[in-house]
Amino acid sequence: MAFTRKEFLKLGLVGGAGLALSPGASASSPWGRVRTTGHLLRSKAQLPKPFRIPLIVPPVLKPVRTDSRARGARAPTDYYEITHKEAKAEILPGLTTALWGYDGIFPGPTIESRSGRKIVVRYHNELPVPVTPHLHGGRTPPGSDGYPTDLILPRSSSYHTHHEHVAHAAWSFHRGSKGYVYPLEQRAATLWYHDHRMDFTGPQIWRGLAGFHIVHDDEEDELPLPKDEKDVPLMLCDRSFGEGGSFLYPSLDPSLEGEPGIREEYMSGVLGDCILVNGVPWPFMEVSNTRYRFRILNASNARRYRLALDPGPSDGLPFVQVGSDGGLLGAPISHRTIPIAPAERFDVVIDFSKYPVGTKVTLKNRLGLGTTSRVMRFHIVRKEKERSAVPERLSDMGEFKALGESNARLRRNFYFTRARHNGHGVWAINGKVFSPSRIDARPKLGSTEIWELATDVHHPVHIHLVHFKVLSRNGGEPPPTDAGWKDTVDLRPFELVRVIARFGGYKGRYVFHCHNLEHEDMMMMANFEVV
Ligand code: C2O
Ligand code: CU
Ligand code: CU
Repeated sequence: MAFTRKEFLKLGLVGGAGLALSPGASASSPWGRVRTTGHLLRSKAQLPKPFRIPLIVPPVLKPVRTDSRARGARAPTDYYEITHKEAKAEILPGLTTALWGYDGIFPGPTIESRSGRKIVVRYHNELPVPVTPHLHGGRTPPGSDGYPTDLILPRSSSYHTHHEHVAHAAWSFHRGSKGYVYPLEQRAATLWYHDHRMDFTGPQIWRGLAGFHIVHDDEEDELPLPKDEKDVPLMLCDRSFGEGGSFLYPSLDPSLEGEPGIREEYMSGVLGDCILVNGVPWPFMEVSNTRYRFRILNASNARRYRLALDPGPSDGLPFVQVGSDGGLLGAPISHRTIPIAPAERFDVVIDFSKYPVGTKVTLKNRLGLGTTSRVMRFHIVRKEKERSAVPERLSDMGEFKALGESNARLRRNFYFTRARHNGHGVWAINGKVFSPSRIDARPKLGSTEIWELATDVHHPVHIHLVHFKVLSRNGGEPPPTDAGWKDTVDLRPFELVRVIARFGGYKGRYVFHCHNLEHEDMMMMANFEVV
């Protein structure tokens, strides 16, 4: 079924809401080539010349304790501690940026876990505001999923939430710290953890609350893919900087302790003019003329990228995708460019043997303009013997293949559009804004459902707990970049995307939402409860 603008109008999804599209700095027309949804915030600080600073890779966190057989528990468990804290970093050369980081660093430390091996992370909060850590892509029991109103309050008891007028039933509070249990009964995949505090996710991630969590398993270990220092996580995000190097963000109350919200012109999304990779502005990385695996995460608030290599290799296909949000693909897929929306992950192999030693290859963003059109650069500096390979078969994907329309117990429709609420422009799902106490879907545990997701402008839609398969876009075959298990899918303007998922795992209340963080904070979120 094709879902056209006309049908949207018929459904009254556009007209009535007084839809004012603000597709941002780089759109030609709302219905045409919309590059990205959002509004550019210009830096006041002088930004560095690109490709002068080496890439860094976030450190891997060590467990504080490990037991092979937790008392009374079946699964062996590793225990971690992470503290949310304020810190200073030199992101722009010579300037100081105050940030909020997991253990005071941005990106946070990487957690490396094993499929089926439970971990417990105790998160401490030394920030002046509440926090809510969420493991994105994790199949996590509801009490540890980082529900937006499940807050870890600052340790100092002087903090009083302004939400005290809110019905307490929908909120829960922990003073100072809380332990989160992650059973990790899921396959190897590139996950990430980030803040999810109600109404303040956008500014809190912008200040630095994001890190990688990589799940490994035996199936993946046995593959000859590039390993160790050739298996590199890349967290892409855009930021803007104030004169002295501070992170700029258009919050109405920059303390993030009072009323939420941002200046009206940014409600489509905040776009920065400086691209960071693992927290480094436009870095370079020295590589040998061999294959490298890059786990690319778009951790930007609102920015979408179309990644390309310049110069491209002679065969024109620089990216060999081996994994998606939910882990390995069945077989590798080669792409010329990779579109990546907020929260999506692409796990790709780049073969630098296609270039002569001495070549500099730039990772470009074809959706960017000026400073945002480039991401990082690879310097091919040495020859080395190739030890890795990309096998033709990566994973058997049994469950994925079996997941088809005929298994679906029911279908649900969700429209992601602009709306008005209390006289303000907001973002809504089926015309409704987020409320922690309203459940919009009750899938049965273990049942399979098709969700039809439709939009006005770009919305990267993320569903907690499950991984899904993209069935179609506007009635047609999804493009090859939709392959594999996904937990986030980018809806393009006036598109209907059908996804199918099995609601396995745990009973309880979870959210699904737009992962454009300004849309999320401005209420484009809803609950489902697995029953
Ligand atoms: Cu990446 Cu609801 O989160
Ligand atoms: Cu998530
Ligand atoms: Cu959105």
